[in-house]
Amino acid sequence: MLDIERLRSGLPIRGLGEPLHFLKSIGSTNDHAMKLARDGALHGTLVVAEEQTEGKGRAGRHWFTPPNSAVALSLLLRLEEIPIDVIGDLTALGAIAVTEAIEMLGIEGKIKWPNDVMLLGKKAAGILVEGSWIGDQLEHVILGIGINVRPESVPPKEKVEIPAICVDTAVGARTDRHDLILHVVEGVGKWLPKLGSPVFVHTWNQRLAYQDELVVVKLPEEEIVGKLRGVDVGGRLQLTLKTGETIEVAFGDVQLRPVDMKSKSAKLV
Ligand code: BTN
Repeated sequence: MLDIERLRSGLPIRGLGEPLHFLKSIGSTNDHAMKLARDGALHGTLVVAEEQTEGKGRAGRHWFTPPNSAVALSLLLRLEEIPIDVIGDLTALGAIAVTEAIEMLGIEGKIKWPNDVMLLGKKAAGILVEGSWIGDQLEHVILGIGINVRPESVPPKEKVEIPAICVDTAVGARTDRHDLILHVVEGVGKWLPKLGSPVFVHTWNQRLAYQDELVVVKLPEEEIVGKLRGVDVGGRLQLTLKTGETIEVAFGDVQLRPVDMKSKSAKLV
């Protein structure tokens, strides 16, 4: 079990993590943080849960968080000064913070665009950013981070689209979840002021999985095959097609996987 006092003694970090709301079990930490935000909670409020019964993944998918075996956290961010076009980068910011935290454990993490953290080629963590707007005014953002830490937190094979792994298995040791949470929060705080900056985009590109490899991008109606070039400052994926043309794919409605894993029938554009 997480020791809440130990966690609290390491917070706040870089203005994040205070207050800390620790829950043994909750539907979704993102939903809980959203409720707190609507009740006026402050920037930096952190929600951590030992179990999620209705954990949310991207595109309406379920996120598996059985008790005492994972990291499930949500940070409330009030970001009035951040330009609208870098809001999409927040997902990457979460992924960079997670890969850097895991790297301290001695293993390199990669970011599978847009939001998966991969260890040894398998998914170990995911990020879900949800915003609340009044007209075109951003009220607040919830940055949700889920990390598989113990083997029990790895979802069953039939429930996942890409193979999953946990940090303990990848590292070959038992990970201290307190340290992991604190390092992630610290990473978020470190990168927030640099969101959308050249160094941010450079770091993201350095950590991007499948760079210069042939990949399949899944759109609702079709699949596009191309060579992955990188991401631009708005978080769009740059893809070079067989025709030589380079296109940009916007955030949110695509999936990515190496051509040799699946989708051999993908349309060659
Ligand atoms: C994904 O890869 O599909 C995103 C997964 C995000 C999961 C985290 S766990 C903490 C936070 N609360 C949620 O309900 N979801 C996010």
